[in-house]
Amino acid sequence: MVSITVDGKTIEAEEGSSLLQACLDHGIYIPNLCFLKEMDKPTGSCRLCIVELEGEEKPVASCGVKVKEGMVVRTDTPHLRQLQRVDFQLIMSAHHMECKNCLSRKKCELQKIAKTLEVRLKPTKFEELGRDLAVLKHPCFDLLPARCILCRKCLFVCGQNNEKPLLRLVRNGYESVIEATCEGEDPDKLPCRYCLACVEACPVSAIVPVARELDRGV
Ligand code: SF4
Ligand code: SF4
Ligand code: FES
Repeated sequence: MVSITVDGKTIEAEEGSSLLQACLDHGIYIPNLCFLKEMDKPTGSCRLCIVELEGEEKPVASCGVKVKEGMVVRTDTPHLRQLQRVDFQLIMSAHHMECKNCLSRKKCELQKIAKTLEVRLKPTKFEELGRDLAVLKHPCFDLLPARCILCRKCLFVCGQNNEKPLLRLVRNGYESVIEATCEGEDPDKLPCRYCLACVEACPVSAIVPVARELDRGV
């Protein structure tokens, strides 16, 4: 164990562990959407977990920083909050909100982040992109691309649970979308083990098990 200072408070953490995880474990909340503690190499795609590190000129994504003895970290300066607000609003501009039909509504990470950053959930600065992306039908679940925030957590857990991941990211930029490689296949011959780790990992309920379709109220 080593000692680090976060927002003026000294905490103990395992050397080499993720700085983000160490902070979360000590009740220091840093907004995050694309990190899972099992990840050795986080994708760093959401950019919400940025912190200021003593000795670093620019803010860094804390999920990808390894804890080292004597680190001095700030997680909540006005500059960080401003950068996080811009990134969060960009994410929200591509997220189709339908809270009343969403399985995440009682433990919504987006709502928690909006509260932490003191911003509205609906973007005001950026228009909602309003992507009209059709629901993808997998034999075991529905994938709702318009709700997906492209955090890639589902890709990671699918890769962990299957020799060959059954989910993949296709196209680029605004057009990016998660796809199931076995879409349309005979359910009895599917390599998918119906582990539903992807459903569990998705922070916005963009993957909905077919058996629970009625829960969505659609
Ligand atoms: S994930 Fe989106 S749609 Fe679901 S409750 Fe949160 S803000 Fe609402
Ligand atoms: S489907 Fe869910 S878990 Fe997968 S990338 Fe989209 S938001 Fe993330
Ligand atoms: S949680 Fe670190 S970049 Fe997304």
